[in-house]
Amino acid sequence: MEQFRKRCRAFFDTLWPAEEKTLVFGEGRADHPPIMLIGEAPGEQETLQGRPFVGKAGKNLDAFLEVVGLRREDIYISNVVKVRPTKVSPKGSVSNRPPNREELALFTPYLYEEILLVQPEMIVTLGNVALKALLGKDAVIGEHHGQVTRAQVQGQAFQVFPLYHPASIIYNRSLTEIYQQDLQKLKTVI
Ligand code: URA
Repeated sequence: MEQFRKRCRAFFDTLWPAEEKTLVFGEGRADHPPIMLIGEAPGEQETLQGRPFVGKAGKNLDAFLEVVGLRREDIYISNVVKVRPTKVSPKGSVSNRPPNREELALFTPYLYEEILLVQPEMIVTLGNVALKALLGKDAVIGEHHGQVTRAQVQGQAFQVFPLYHPASIIYNRSLTEIYQQDLQKLKTVI
């Protein structure tokens, strides 16, 4: 894993030499955990602390862990894109944006490498970005959420359980119940 991080860091330092981009790597149990959770990209708090899913997203994660009956250290947590995608408003304020095509193309091969290193029993994707990274660009969360599906990562098959992104639930309250039902289903399959 250290080798992987070093290579990844070296690649992005060479690619974006002038920019100070903090890479936020995965954390947790990296040896065959029951679950590898994959989000979209780090946000502000994640970048400040250098850890995935902290701050508001971390609270969502705690609720997730409570329902499925696991602790943070029992699972491996990562993101597709490992830098914070930002946009700057005309007034100069910085906010998050979804990862763009270039960022996804650059980081997805590293995600595959990470999955092959971690060898999780089950991959849980949060939202469309992580789902598409594994199942292809035509996959949509509305069709796949709450059921086990399979994905090939460089020729190796993995079980994938897609969930809506917890952040999308904040903006779309009608998804709350579906998300809770999906979590219950996940609990029965792990
Ligand atoms: N924080 C993360 O680390 N990933 C997400 O997808 C959202 C918040």
